[in-house]
Amino acid sequence: MFPPERAVSPPAGWLWTLENDMGSRESSIVILDSILLSSSDWPVRKRFRGRFVCTLANLCMEELRDEVADNRQPQEDIDPLFVNRWSPRAMTGEPLDEEQYMSLFEAARWAPSSYNNQHWRFLYATREDDDFEQFSELLGDANQVWTDDAAVLVTIVTKSTFDHNGEPARTHSFDAGAAWQNIALEASRRGLVAHAMQGFDYEAAAEQLNVPDGHDVECMIAIGERAPADTLPEELEEREFPKGRKDMDEILFHGGFDE
Ligand SMILES: Cc1cc2nc3c(=O)[nH]c(=O)nc-3n(C[C@H](O)[C@H](O)[C@H](O)COP(=O)(O)O)c2cc1C
Repeated sequence: MFPPERAVSPPAGWLWTLENDMGSRESSIVILDSILLSSSDWPVRKRFRGRFVCTLANLCMEELRDEVADNRQPQEDIDPLFVNRWSPRAMTGEPLDEEQYMSLFEAARWAPSSYNNQHWRFLYATREDDDFEQFSELLGDANQVWTDDAAVLVTIVTKSTFDHNGEPARTHSFDAGAAWQNIALEASRRGLVAHAMQGFDYEAAAEQLNVPDGHDVECMIAIGERAPADTLPEELEEREFPKGRKDMDEILFHGGFDE
C-alpha cells in the first residue's frame, strides 16, 4: 500500500485511521514504518515524528488483558507483558504450526547466561511424533490429566560446566530459568499456553532421553493452543485463573536480611 520507494506525506487522517481503526497491530506497524521511511518531506516528517513514535510504541505495547486485570494488580508501573503471562492448563489438543513453537525456542535462545555459555538444551516432542508418548509418560498423573492436550512437550536440560574451561558453571540452572521465561513470554504474546512442570520423573527423563553426564534435567514444559477453562476437569477448572503474588515487602530487602 505504501511502498518505501514512494515519497508520501502522511495526512493526519491516516494517523487517525491507524490509531483508531487498526486491522492488526503487525500490519499497522509495517505501514507506519513504511510511511516513516518513505516520506521525503522533512518538515512533515518532523511534525509527525513524535506522533509516529508514540503510535508505534502504543501499538507495540500490550494492554493488561481482562482475565488478568480481574486477578492481578501490579504495585509499580511495568509493561503489561509481564503481568499478562500466566500458566493456563486448558489446551485444545490441536497440533501447532512448526513456526509457532520454533519462535518460542528462538526467544529462549536470546536469554542471557554467564559467559554467554547458553547452558540450556531443549528436548521436545510434538503430539504427531512417536516420542510424544515417551515424554508424556515421564509426567506425574496430576500433570498428565491436562498435558494430554498439549501440542508440544519439552524437557529442559542444562550443561553444568563452562565450554571454555570445563569448570562448574554455578548459574547453569539460573540461566535456564531466564530461557524458560523467554519461552513463556513469547507464548503469552502469541496467546499460547506455556506451562512449566516439575511434576515428572527426573531420573527416568535422564535415562530415557539419553541425557549425557555433566548435564542436569531441569524442568518440563507443556505448550499448546489455549482452550476454554470448562474443558478441564472441575477441580482444575476452579484453579484456571492468573495467580497473584507476594507483596513487595516480603521479597525485597534494602541491604541484607535482618539479623
Ligand atoms: C519450575 C516450575 C515448575 C512447575 N511445576 C508445575 C507442575 O508440575 N504442575 C503444574 O500444574 N504447574 C507447575 N508450575 C506452575 C506454577 O504452579 C505456576 O507458575 C505458579 O503457580 C504461578 O502461576 P503463574 O505461572 O500462572 O503466574 C510450575 C512452574 C514452574 C516455574
